[in-house]
Amino acid sequence: MASITIRNLDEETKQTLREYAAKNGRSMEEQVRLILGDVKKLSLLEPAQIFNPIATSPIHQQSEEKGAPPVNLKGKLILLVIGGGIAAYKCLDLIRRLRERGALVRPVMTNAAHEFVTPLSVSAIANDKVFSELFDRDDEHDIGHIRLSREADLIVVAPTTADLMAKMAQGHANDLASTVLMATDKPVLIAPAMNPKMWSHPATQRNIKLLHSDGIHFIGPNAGEMAESGEAGLGRMAEPLEIVSAIENLLLPKKIPQPLAGKRAIVTSGPTHEPIDPVRYIANRSSGKQGHAIAEALGQAGAEVILVSGPVDIPDPENCETINIQTAREMQQAVETALPADIAVMVAAVADWRTVNASDEKMKKENGKGPASLQLTENPDILKTLGHHKQRPQLLIGFAAETEALEEHAKAKLKSKNADWIIANDVSPEGGVMGGDKNTVKRLSKSGIEDWPKMDKSEVAQKLVNEIIKHFTVETLEI
Ligand SMILES: Cc1cc2nc3c(=O)[nH]c(=O)nc-3n(C[C@H](O)[C@H](O)[C@H](O)COP(=O)(O)O)c2cc1C
Repeated sequence: MASITIRNLDEETKQTLREYAAKNGRSMEEQVRLILGDVKKLSLLEPAQIFNPIATSPIHQQSEEKGAPPVNLKGKLILLVIGGGIAAYKCLDLIRRLRERGALVRPVMTNAAHEFVTPLSVSAIANDKVFSELFDRDDEHDIGHIRLSREADLIVVAPTTADLMAKMAQGHANDLASTVLMATDKPVLIAPAMNPKMWSHPATQRNIKLLHSDGIHFIGPNAGEMAESGEAGLGRMAEPLEIVSAIENLLLPKKIPQPLAGKRAIVTSGPTHEPIDPVRYIANRSSGKQGHAIAEALGQAGAEVILVSGPVDIPDPENCETINIQTAREMQQAVETALPADIAVMVAAVADWRTVNASDEKMKKENGKGPASLQLTENPDILKTLGHHKQRPQLLIGFAAETEALEEHAKAKLKSKNADWIIANDVSPEGGVMGGDKNTVKRLSKSGIEDWPKMDKSEVAQKLVNEIIKHFTVETLEI
């Protein structure tokens, strides 16, 4: 290996380099080569980050660890597919780092990987059996390739060879590694490692594009010295700690701000079904999309959310407690039971009327008698009940769905229901709001009317939740 001569380095920089290289178990020369190899990446960083590349570069900060790592991957099962490349030796360190953090690592080795690292070492460090053969009768009986890929929380392929990338991109399943990668329904993170010429080859570049579009996550490769050839360039596998950090990013919940933490919200959503007889009912076209989106956005902002939902065909948001009801009266009861609350957003399209006496038996068509007449009575007005309730939520928001004189009706509703805000939407059939994904609304409050542009229902939900957050922030500041 040719040596690198760098003149005029001051003593302090030399010492820093010496210590840094020693910490990473490298010679100073190797360390300098690595840093130079990363110059291409550093040039993409902000000048402030480049100022002290050793201390601040995201490429290098992961190489050091101070003290014991957090046990933040406890209970996570990682299926580690080890490909046949020189960098396979680094997977031993990767397994160790993952296990230190509490993860369970189940190794799968390609046949080629056996040439680079022994299954005995991998299995000893992982404290698990190494899986290699697709047609192993015992393995297939004990666990099976489908379970192997599905039981994991994440599949990590490290190193990912050019060959494995090609197989993944083309959908091959002719050995255990490629089959588990095809059979999985879990996220897949790959850490490519190969000669720079193999990396830049048009075939590999085509595969990279395909894998990106298939939603495969990448970590690396880094620029640097190639272990096997003395060549340098892009193709070095990411360091084990960089891979750990990418795994943490994928598996651990993001720390999103929780401005509504400690607040309790009730949201109603969907239509109500008012029975006529056991098979017929009065309903409307509400899909629940807007109400569910608001409940979910409130949950994401940290609120404890009780979602009272009429019959809908969409899934319950994961971050809410959902109470399923059929009729307006059931909805009212569920809402009142859920009190007290800081916030109530009444989005459901509650049927205004129900039949006076729903028949217990299916009503029969009787020849010559003409259609049965339905006698209707008014349903409870849930928004109005809450507006005048002794446990009235601090912020009460109603929805007004109108097909004409939107503002006029919404203004009247704001007053008569004693609501704080009314979100008014025009539900004329030509607007496609009922059941659709978009909504155009106006927000009415005592201080005026705001027109919001046409947005996805999820965006309306987010904007509304932002207004709710603002409302409570201002309140807090005023205290
Ligand atoms: C000494 C040696 C080192 C190799 N290193 C790599 C490598 O780093 N990356 C790579 O993509 N292929 C490398 N190969 C080629 C792969 O081992 C070969 O493509 C193999 O078929 C990969 O099998 P797998 O994808 O099933 O693991 C290397 C081959 C040899 C002989």
